[in-house]
Amino acid sequence: MTRFPWQERNGRFSPLKAVCFAALFLPGLWVLGQALLGQLGPRPVTEAIHELGLWTIRLLFLTLAITPLRAAWRWPQLILVRRMIGVAAFCYVVAHVSGYVVDQGFDLAKVLSEIVSRFYLTFGAIAVLGLAALAATSTDGMIRRLGGRKWRRLHQLGYGIAVLASIHYFMQSKLFVDEATVMGGLYLWLMGYRLLAWRGPVPLWRLAALSVAASALTALGEAGYYALTRGVDLGRVLAANFTTVTGIRPAVYVLGITLAVTLVALLRAAPLRAGQRARA
Ligand code: HEM
Repeated sequence: MTRFPWQERNGRFSPLKAVCFAALFLPGLWVLGQALLGQLGPRPVTEAIHELGLWTIRLLFLTLAITPLRAAWRWPQLILVRRMIGVAAFCYVVAHVSGYVVDQGFDLAKVLSEIVSRFYLTFGAIAVLGLAALAATSTDGMIRRLGGRKWRRLHQLGYGIAVLASIHYFMQSKLFVDEATVMGGLYLWLMGYRLLAWRGPVPLWRLAALSVAASALTALGEAGYYALTRGVDLGRVLAANFTTVTGIRPAVYVLGITLAVTLVALLRAAPLRAGQRARA
């Protein structure tokens, strides 16, 4: 039976899937609209490559965030949109790489030689191959054919793909590495959550402690990076996290985003606790 993206397995309409499906088109339509209106700046193709790359990595991370979010927020239906977001990440990377091919004047031999000779493109290309494998095995038929366990193991490749994609992002960021550093910190949180969840449900205090740990490691990583590459004093970079003189630092973003996840988890848990107390 043909199923539309906004339908559940049993054919019922799912508002969550419908909203998510529509939302996934928005960044692409926005880039297209800006391009048609001539508002992508003096180097529109480069700008489009950047925007599409950014959305690829954001969607990739969102896919990895579904498991922690559905558990922490007690929202099991979120699983309905994980595959859709992952496939969208693949579509965005195809557009991102296509932009690069256009930028290189459709000279595929040059594109290949650049991929081989520039490390950041090599990492990106391996990540694309990985994403292609995951997208190709995302159909119901492939899940059935592979079996649940094999399929899950194959899809754990997503963690490695996110690392490669982050290295690609970090390496090409050159001077401005802030958002790439935020991504690195969020990756630590995502992996940390999986470690904690290994033993069973993660209590809220551990979720909050994980936020602090991921943020502290992000701050240390950033300070180490500037100390090693620019010789900036470690203490000065760390101190910048406590002021806004050099803007909001990546560690503060990581803390804010992950604590917001914990806060929503707390709010979602409150009525449940009240119910338990009333019954006791
Ligand atoms: C999963 C795979 C990939 C992801 C997640 C990804 C993501 C990104 C991101 C986030 C950026 C930076 C955008 C910004 O700073 O505003 C970027 C830049 C770029 N990416 Fe990728 N990318 C991937 C694969 C590739 C591949 C395979 C190629 C080409 C063969 C490629 C070519 C480029 C180029 C040319 C830039 C701009 C570099 C510059 O302006 O110096 N990417 N990518």
